[in-house]
Amino acid sequence: MSQEALESNEPETPHLDFAGTTPYEDYVRADVLTHLQHTLSDDPGEMVFLVTTQVMELWFTVIVHEWETAAAALRGDDLPTAIAALKRSTRELEALNASWKPLGQLTPAQFNSYRSALGEGSGFQSAMYRRMEFLLGEKSASMLVPHRGAPRVHAELEKALHEPSLYDEVVRVLGRRGYPIPDAVLVERDISLPYAPSDAVEAAWTAVYSAEGDGDGELARLGEALTDVAELVWRWRNDHLVATRRAMGAKTGTGGSAGVAWLEKRARKNVFPELWTARSHV
Ligand code: HEM
Repeated sequence: MSQEALESNEPETPHLDFAGTTPYEDYVRADVLTHLQHTLSDDPGEMVFLVTTQVMELWFTVIVHEWETAAAALRGDDLPTAIAALKRSTRELEALNASWKPLGQLTPAQFNSYRSALGEGSGFQSAMYRRMEFLLGEKSASMLVPHRGAPRVHAELEKALHEPSLYDEVVRVLGRRGYPIPDAVLVERDISLPYAPSDAVEAAWTAVYSAEGDGDGELARLGEALTDVAELVWRWRNDHLVATRRAMGAKTGTGGSAGVAWLEKRARKNVFPELWTARSHV
């Protein structure tokens, strides 16, 4: 405690003097982060559109990290570490989804005020979102094409395309725990293609969720953590769909798609399909 604080009996105040930048800045890089907001129009409403998009990119990055952590833990049969990472990711997905708030009620006139400035820019071109989808098992080589001009991003996506997804690792755990999963699902399939639902995997989840299966409940806990993830991803897609419907009706998207009609089809995708269908058989 400084002499001054001792004498005045006041609580010590934070340090003010640093030789260089503050330790906070060195860690958080706030100066970089808060100077990345280069809006493209004069519309005052564009700032929150850009920042919300950037915030979501940061959440995508954290969630990819959690799911990669979970996938690696599953590879080593460390289910507690995998479940802990998945549970962290569900709280992060809730925060991600809450960040729709500032954009959820945009009117077409408000969105039009800066929409043309976005040119062909679209969230469809988010590489980190694709990494999330690839980890869910929704692989697609064509989603690499937009990133040919960005070598680092392209290389990361290409690696993710050819690596087992989080769900591939889950299915392999089911196989190692004695559930009869055929080689056609476990080892022979091309993991760079989208995961297709399997009757054997559905039967395994049915057994896990039935009272007689998985005596210690660890696999059922894994199943529930994955179901939470699936539900929250579905919610993100639906919140995005509704926000889009409010902001632009049935117009075509800046990325060139049919807009809402195309997003409706995407939002119908079932994440971890057998975890949903197995419920009919338990
Ligand atoms: C209200 C504002 C928004 C509107 C009107 C909107 C509109 C659209 C539309 C029409 C598409 C289809 C592709 C296209 O033709 O452009 C799309 C895709 C996408 N948007 Fe948005 N978007 C909004 C906000 C956001 C935000 C804040 C993010 C966060 C990163 C985001 C991420 C995405 C992603 C990841 C896709 C691809 C979805 C997929 O591949 O299934 N969008 N958006």
